[in-house]
Amino acid sequence: MGIDAELVQHDFPTAKLKVAAGIILSGGPQNLSENTSLKADKKIFALGVPVLGICYGMQLMAHMLGGKVKSGKSGEYGPAKIQLNPDSDLFLSLYNEQEVWMSHGDSVRTLPKGFSDIASTPDCPHAAMEDSIRKLYGIQFHAEVDHTPHGRTVLKNFARTCGLLPSSANKNNIKHMVQLIRNQVGKDKALCAFSGGIDSVVAATLVSKAIGKQLTCIYVDTGLMREGETELLRKNYSNIFNLKIIRAEKEFLTALKGLTDPESKRKTIGHTFIKIFEREAKKLKGIKWLVQGTLYTDAISSGRGRGKATAVIKSHHNVGGLPEKLGFKLLEPLRDMYKFEVRLLAAQLRLPAATVHKQPFPGPGLGVRVIGEVTKDKLEIVRRADKIVEEEVVAAQLTKMISQYFAILSNTKTVGVKGDGRSYGQMIGIRAIYTTDYLTLSVPEIPYSVLRKIVSRITNEIKEVTRVVYDITPKPPGTVEWE
Ligand code: XMP
Repeated sequence: MGIDAELVQHDFPTAKLKVAAGIILSGGPQNLSENTSLKADKKIFALGVPVLGICYGMQLMAHMLGGKVKSGKSGEYGPAKIQLNPDSDLFLSLYNEQEVWMSHGDSVRTLPKGFSDIASTPDCPHAAMEDSIRKLYGIQFHAEVDHTPHGRTVLKNFARTCGLLPSSANKNNIKHMVQLIRNQVGKDKALCAFSGGIDSVVAATLVSKAIGKQLTCIYVDTGLMREGETELLRKNYSNIFNLKIIRAEKEFLTALKGLTDPESKRKTIGHTFIKIFEREAKKLKGIKWLVQGTLYTDAISSGRGRGKATAVIKSHHNVGGLPEKLGFKLLEPLRDMYKFEVRLLAAQLRLPAATVHKQPFPGPGLGVRVIGEVTKDKLEIVRRADKIVEEEVVAAQLTKMISQYFAILSNTKTVGVKGDGRSYGQMIGIRAIYTTDYLTLSVPEIPYSVLRKIVSRITNEIKEVTRVVYDITPKPPGTVEWE
């Protein structure tokens, strides 16, 4: 971390500690129940500098400040899954579920006055505690070992509370973001282009925190959605936001009729989207702002980077398809963020894990996963294949190593044999990628057995499909989506 640290004994004179920016009480093989256990001077908690107790250090802090520590008959040794409160300064930018290394018999039974719980495991209800006013923290797990993969972040966060590192960037500060939106929008009404993906959910959540009922979310069911997507959205969000669902499959399919060029398809989908939005907005009267979950990477892919213009690889429908004279002012609270930052923000906003880890789905939806002309029948085939890919990836517990996984209808017919007869059917592509920035990607190795199962299910369950291929092209040169 590049910070000067000094290791001192438990009986080091407190007066000399006054120069420290912060104090860590380390772990050790001690048990408070033993008379020989090492103690520190209670005055260190009144020096006005942050103190972090680790394992025995946490127990000692709890004990000296009036809490209770129980000696454990059985303890926790080895890896443990911990649920933590991402609102704590100590856990800034961490997801609320973490793997940590535990090694303790005793544990805190009653917190000292002024403290609250900030983490727990099934066996340890007080796995971390904080007094955010005095900046006193305790963690029962070992943040300092490699077996706690994000332990360094916890230590860095502690260093930050000591003023040894710059404070967190404002763009990740929820209160600050909400206030900015409130200042910007004032008493105006806003409309959110709500797709149900993480970006629009996070954008809508921030705006809704800022302006409440002045926000209406509109979800357009383009008919290019995944199986069950619209129903799930209705179930999850209609109680939270003022959500309007517009069924527009026919309008999109009519607009896409005869189109085969990817850019024409993308632009048409984008324009149709905006047309519907304008129509709905007029019905609502007085809408001034259009909220979108546009990310930094979306903007770059569409040639709207931070600096000078970048090449247009694809027109992302949420930015590239906007007509010049929109009639709305754009509100894009995530405009400077990368996807991983949005996921962190989603965790900090305590959105459901299913949303935080949801794989991205492109705005033009299955419209760019049916290569060439889009028809209702082809959409149905790709939708069913996509569902099978998802089911098998989830069943094989591969979701943590894969950022996005889906099926593509290649629009190439190939000869096959089904039953005893000749079959001239569709070819499905399977794509599974790993990325953190979505500007580059690698292809993770899906076990052969899983691939075989996917191929077998797709060819057996979807009669129109005779062949399945697996795309292992990295980016560059291959983009995530085929169109
Ligand atoms: P590409 O295909 O450009 O995709 O490598 C990078 C990421 O963006 C998603 N994607 C889109 N997202 N509107 C979106 O909101 C779009 O038009 C769009 N096109 C691609 C893609 O799924 C991947 O996550």
